[in-house]
Amino acid sequence: MKNADDLTAAVYDNFLKFPETRRFFLEADGEIDEVRLTRRKHSLSRWLRGSIDFKIDDDYPIRVLATGIVHSHPPSHRAHLGSIPSRFMVASMSFIQTALADVLRDELEDQDLAMRASIAWNKMLMLQLDILLAGYVSETPTEAVPINDEKGPKNPFGEGFHRGSGTGADR
Ligand code: HEM
Repeated sequence: MKNADDLTAAVYDNFLKFPETRRFFLEADGEIDEVRLTRRKHSLSRWLRGSIDFKIDDDYPIRVLATGIVHSHPPSHRAHLGSIPSRFMVASMSFIQTALADVLRDELEDQDLAMRASIAWNKMLMLQLDILLAGYVSETPTEAVPINDEKGPKNPFGEGFHRGSGTGADR
């Protein structure tokens, strides 16, 4: 689909426009790594086409999570660059949402349909963003310790809550 290629090209033009994002696509000598750039364009375009074709099966969230992890945990060949900041993932998704809304508005005669399609796309892309960002979150869960401070509440979830009783909301 031509729109998917145009959209991918627009996302990459935007990456290359700003030094903060451009640096992830440069070789050690500061030149654009064309081979890798083409490969990455294909990856983004594949992801976009997968979303357009709605090839969403049980493995889909795992693939999206793996993609998030590739961005948050740099592989050894670009370890020196660190993580791709999560705000750029958010910004990219926003860029893609805007570009898709433009395509739908321009290509669909029925503007109400274009609006509804755009809303649906926004929701689906937000779900994907949530999974991509799960690759960034590093929570360290610990066991709850009872609070016995006279001054504060004894239980952060309310008096009726006991360990193993779910949320306590039904008590
Ligand atoms: C909506 C946001 C984004 C999506 C959906 C996305 C998608 C992808 C996908 C599917 C791959 C291939 C992953 C793999 O090989 O398993 C990839 C790789 C890559 N992306 Fe993104 N990307 C996004 C944002 C960004 C941003 C903001 C940057 C940098 C500014 C970036 C830089 C890269 C790089 C450097 C690679 C190659 C990873 C490697 O070193 O192997 N991406 N991206």
